Amino acid sequence: MPEQFLPDPVMPRPARSMKERMLAGEPYLASDDELGELGLRAQDLADDYNATRSRDGSERRRLLGELLGSVGEGVEIRPPFRVDYGFNIRIGARTFANWGLVAADVAAITIGEDVQIGPNVQLLTPTHPVEPEPRRQKWEAARPITIGDNVWLGGGVIVLPGVTIGENTVVGAGSVVVRDLPANVVAVGNPASVIRTI
Ligand SMILES: CC(C)(COP(=O)(O)OP(=O)(O)OC[C@H]1O[C@@H](n2cnc3c(N)ncnc32)[C@H](O)[C@@H]1OP(=O)(O)O)[C@@H](O)C(=O)NCCC(=O)NCCS
Repeated sequence: MPEQFLPDPVMPRPARSMKERMLAGEPYLASDDELGELGLRAQDLADDYNATRSRDGSERRRLLGELLGSVGEGVEIRPPFRVDYGFNIRIGARTFANWGLVAADVAAITIGEDVQIGPNVQLLTPTHPVEPEPRRQKWEAARPITIGDNVWLGGGVIVLPGVTIGENTVVGAGSVVVRDLPANVVAVGNPASVIRTI
């Protein structure tokens, strides 16, 4: 098993929960009772959210507040919206996400203010071992994603674990962001690369 996915030595540290390991960005097993229950809670709330009608803004707002770590004023997320846990997601004021946002929040996902997110964007914090054996044993880990203020992610953008995108940056439709992007640029493609500054 590669060192990155080895569990900590049992002694002398007291055993930590899989949730604590997950939040520390260390290898953990998702098939844990506590995480299982937190995941089910999030799926229940997301199911309720996704069943709301567009004209029922106050119920959407209430459910988002219950589901997410924090939500700024005027945030709009069009269903369907999927998360792993919800409590790891913070969204700044006036941010808009179109249909089909997948925010896999095993690690923190921080989305700034006035961000525009196109349809079917995926923010993917989890990562599985590339080596076959620890992956078979279901070890996984995650790295946080940060989206700066006033970023625009075009439709179908995929953001990989550990990526930070600087404020005002535009990412073209269908791009896969594999490493950090600076502020005030336009980036496109797979892997996304900067084509110009703004
Ligand atoms: C990135 C974008 C904003 C255009 O930016 P722009 O600075 O005006 O770029 P241009 O149209 O001048 O294109 C510049 C180059 O990037 C390429 N390009 C543009 N968008 C691209 C994309 N999404 N993927 C790959 N390449 C792209 C162009 O083909 C062009 O290449 P070339 O110089 O070899 O001809 C736009 O192409 C885009 O992807 N918009 C997203 C639309 C969307 O998702 N809408 C849903 C609502 S949120």
